[in-house]
Amino acid sequence: MRRGALLQMLVIALVAAGGGVALALAVPWLPYSAGHEADRIDFVFWFVVGICIFIFAIVSSMLVYSVIHFRARPDDDSDGPPIHGHTGLEIAWTALPTVLVTAIGVVSAVVLARNGNAGAHPMRVDVTAQQFAWSFSYPEAKGMQTNVLRLPVGRSVQLTFTAKDVIHSFWVPQFGQKQDAVPGLHPTLHITPKRTGTFPVICTELCGLGHALMRTVVIVMPTAQFRRWLSGQTKTATTGGGAKLGATVFKNNGCAACHTFKPAGAAGKVGPDLDQLPQEAKRAGKPLAEFTRESIVNPSAYVEKGYPDNVMPKTFKSLPKQQLDALVQYLTAKKG
Ligand code: CUA
Repeated sequence: MRRGALLQMLVIALVAAGGGVALALAVPWLPYSAGHEADRIDFVFWFVVGICIFIFAIVSSMLVYSVIHFRARPDDDSDGPPIHGHTGLEIAWTALPTVLVTAIGVVSAVVLARNGNAGAHPMRVDVTAQQFAWSFSYPEAKGMQTNVLRLPVGRSVQLTFTAKDVIHSFWVPQFGQKQDAVPGLHPTLHITPKRTGTFPVICTELCGLGHALMRTVVIVMPTAQFRRWLSGQTKTATTGGGAKLGATVFKNNGCAACHTFKPAGAAGKVGPDLDQLPQEAKRAGKPLAEFTRESIVNPSAYVEKGYPDNVMPKTFKSLPKQQLDALVQYLTAKKG
């Protein structure tokens, strides 16, 4: 009888555990991982889920067995047997959770410590969050600013955050971590990309009307390709100057997505045609170079007829002066 009961409970527990495992495996619950930190976080997640399935199996077996065997018959009005606890059971249900919760705590602490450790020589990238765009600047490339994050695969990277206005939050699902960017603070985030590809960068803190549009991408590149890109940026920043630097700044900051500008081969239609800058400056009643600079750092100062206000990001006032000068020079060359 006792062995029969144990056997029945074991069968119920195995069915419940099987159901739990099937549910865990049948659905791709997590974004696929593109970083070593995400792998560790996923491990903690599945470690906890495994414990949950184990506890679920024990509880279901006792519950289902009891419902079947100890239910009261319709005509049974008698009292149940007087039970005064069970020392063995009490020790078991105190000790087992203690061990499990401690294990979760230890595993989490190890993962937190390892994920936070950027090593001695991480590559540094400064990340600026602003309503409603991200920009990235590379100290290794003389502070060249881009609006797409490029990283080499397999290298430890330390991102340092600056928020210019309100709280934003940096999130790449495939990297498994989020970091708030808070005005006045400069928090850091450590990531080690483990596969090449293009992944979304999402602002995940409600930061105003354009919050949902505050997105860009991170491109993880093979090391050699990244090196080439970075040294190209450094070279342009130091020796290129003028129009060459201006062309790179134009490209880095995604101007081509919205504007038409023949010298750059850009054909965007969202914002005004930059081949028409001299005529637009005339309409605004300002000298060309001054008008161009103002339109970059303060897009609402003059809005070309037929185009909506507040579409052009206000983030370009954070461009380093040398890059801004070069961009203005590039846009106004041969026209003023
Ligand atoms: Cu920035 Cu939401």
